[in-house]
Amino acid sequence: MEKKEYPAFGGAEPDLKAIYTGGEALKKAPKLYGVSTGIQGLDELFFVVEKQGDKLVKKPLGGIPAYSVFNLTGVSDTGKSLMVEQFAVNQASKGEKVAFITVETPANFVVASLKLRAAAMGIEFDSIQDHIILIDAASSTRLRENLPDLLATLAYVIQNYKVKFTVIDSVTGLFETKEMLARSVVRRLFNFMKKWYQTALFVSQKRSGHEELTAEAAGGYAIGHIVDGTMVLAKELIDSSYKAKIYKRPIGEVVRLFRIDGCRMCGHDSKVRFLEITEEGLVVIKDPISK
Ligand SMILES: Nc1ncnc2c1ncn2[C@@H]1O[C@H](COP(=O)(O)OP(=O)(O)OP(=O)(O)O)[C@@H](O)[C@H]1O
Ligand SMILES: [Mg+2]
Repeated sequence: MEKKEYPAFGGAEPDLKAIYTGGEALKKAPKLYGVSTGIQGLDELFFVVEKQGDKLVKKPLGGIPAYSVFNLTGVSDTGKSLMVEQFAVNQASKGEKVAFITVETPANFVVASLKLRAAAMGIEFDSIQDHIILIDAASSTRLRENLPDLLATLAYVIQNYKVKFTVIDSVTGLFETKEMLARSVVRRLFNFMKKWYQTALFVSQKRSGHEELTAEAAGGYAIGHIVDGTMVLAKELIDSSYKAKIYKRPIGEVVRLFRIDGCRMCGHDSKVRFLEITEEGLVVIKDPISK
């Protein structure tokens, strides 16, 4: 093939495959609709604004936007794993296939936890067990420490099981000893999810309770800028009469809090809300802390 010259660019070659007109790009744009999460109180927090006649009206999306990649972040024991397990069980119960990449806990322990989540949600685990495909990067050093191998494994799973939903618990485990690579790891994961049209939840761990529910909290290593949206989970000990007053709880209790820290694909609630973990181990998103 004849090699084109681009003298105006000083010899550097433009990437013509990266250029689309708006119209061309639109042909490939996915339709916006909600994906239910199985987490009570969460699906109602996402909406779109539509034109009806000459008025703009807010319409609930009924879940997180399809094909979005969300980051769930918070310190230890805030309910992140419970939330992604509920999501996986809920989608599996609808007949969908979910890839669950476990990075912290071996697959046999995760499956026991998924079974408990299903029981609490009133879903027969036997009927959904093969809808969730576990990728055990906790037990496989090769997968945990070698991103191309992990992505090749996930691509295989997506193709062979017709997977539309991916969970990673947690992405932090994939850059444990190389935190300066956090953004590049998450970006590669994000691009992969987009390429394969996955709706995905990434868990990321927050090291300290500092800046608990702020944008700073939303992703630790600036992951928030890469993904489509972030949910921040926090817990707080009521250790002053000031906190007792704002959270309307007695001193000595622990409150759990939740906030959606941005979503670029649709409108969303942005209030700080109470989060509760029921005795059966289900996360429920409750009222805002102030109305
Ligand atoms: N029946 C239950 N089953 C499981 N967890 C429960 C149950 N009831 C309450 N919990 C609470 O849920 C917490 C577990 O939350 P989860 O495992 O989702 O935390 P996490 O945010 O993923 O933490 P980490 O970052 O350490 O993985 C427990 O520490 C416990 O306080
Ligand atoms: Mg966890």
